[in-house]
Amino acid sequence: MAAHKYQAPRGTFDVLPDAARLRGRIERTAAEILARAGYERIATPSFEDTELFERGVGHSTDIVRKEMFTFEDKGGRSLTLRPEGTAPICRAYVEHGMQALAQPVKLAYAGPFFRHERPQAGRYRQFHQLGAEAIGSDSPLADAELIGLLAEILAELGVPGVELRLGSLGSFEARQAYLAELKEHLRAHEGELSKEVRERIDANPLRAFDSDDDGTRAVMATAPKLVERLEGEDAEHFAEVRALLDAAGVSYVIDPTLVRGLDYYTRTIFSFVCDRLGAQSEIGGGGRYDGLVEQLGGKPTPAVGWAAGIERIMLALDEEQAAPGRDVFVAVAEESAQRRSLALVLAGELRKAGLSAEVDLGGRGLKGQLKHADRLGARRVLILDAEGAQLRDMSSGEQRSVETGNLIEEMTGGEA
Ligand code: HAM
Repeated sequence: MAAHKYQAPRGTFDVLPDAARLRGRIERTAAEILARAGYERIATPSFEDTELFERGVGHSTDIVRKEMFTFEDKGGRSLTLRPEGTAPICRAYVEHGMQALAQPVKLAYAGPFFRHERPQAGRYRQFHQLGAEAIGSDSPLADAELIGLLAEILAELGVPGVELRLGSLGSFEARQAYLAELKEHLRAHEGELSKEVRERIDANPLRAFDSDDDGTRAVMATAPKLVERLEGEDAEHFAEVRALLDAAGVSYVIDPTLVRGLDYYTRTIFSFVCDRLGAQSEIGGGGRYDGLVEQLGGKPTPAVGWAAGIERIMLALDEEQAAPGRDVFVAVAEESAQRRSLALVLAGELRKAGLSAEVDLGGRGLKGQLKHADRLGARRVLILDAEGAQLRDMSSGEQRSVETGNLIEEMTGGEA
């Protein structure tokens, strides 16, 4: 019977070494920029109690209604693979009494997230986010700092065609009057709306702005806009965020139709889109979530943050990854167990001195080893033979004998 050939599940992918190198650069760049600004690393589990997301992300969101990977453990508890990181981080903030620390608590993270979405380019069922959250500050400075940091990360990585869209949802309380007005507008045009939007007029009217249905879009073009209804402290907060971004030279466009797929947002929301990405154009986004910590059982605690999709950054960069190359390949000329063992020892010494070094693990003859070294992109090959050792420069083909006793010096000082 032929053995079955397995494949990674639909909507997931393997990270092979070429892609892993670019991923590594993205994660390191973000981690360094965030660490310099005082955002410390946090990691939470890959799954949580289902209720955390139902309460945190919101019952009426697509994420909770349709996209969660939920399962029962052996004790009958409902668990869910995390679809996002903000609710878990707020859970950790409350659970570990982080409100007793100096505020705001500034946190950074990166890792896998899971959503049962229809897979397509830039949209996967297991994907990776990097993110940052500042919990415990209501200052517009926190919004501006975080937005500026994501802009800096994308610029440092060289992501082309990025645009920052900015909006504000106002505070929960202030939003109610607007929502009543919006619902009235939607009801007046009920017949022109998509079924999905019609069914959610009461539960989630804001999502109508996100619809790609033509009829709904026409209705939304004339709908009242929340940013135009902001008053008092909400309006002030939004104006200050804009002024801070202007002062910092971060360019943005105000998008009165901007909404986000999670219910916890208050006041500032933002989205970084990239024109190289096609339909899934959002590379990262976030906003303020002043009610979430309290909703998850903590004291009232204002907070703001964002997350960016690592795969979407990779798609936008579309970089050919150059092979990493090797400093040295240690080859043996005439097969002998002793020489193979010496090759391994010497490679180990070279690595300790900070060079990248490899030996043949495939039992190849000398010709095969040189070919292999070439495929690996080795700059030099050390050939151990009966006379001692030869050092070959792979680009010039020049070869000279060297002493194995002072190899490190040979390698680190001057070219072969
Ligand atoms: P989100 O907009 O749902 O926000 O996701 C953030 C980013 O994750 C998106 O901009 C996108 O780049 C990426 N992403 C989302 N879903 C997928 C997918 N199926 N495949 C590939 N990439 C995806 C949040 O998750 C919030 N927790 C952000 C936040 C942090 N707000 C405040 N703090």
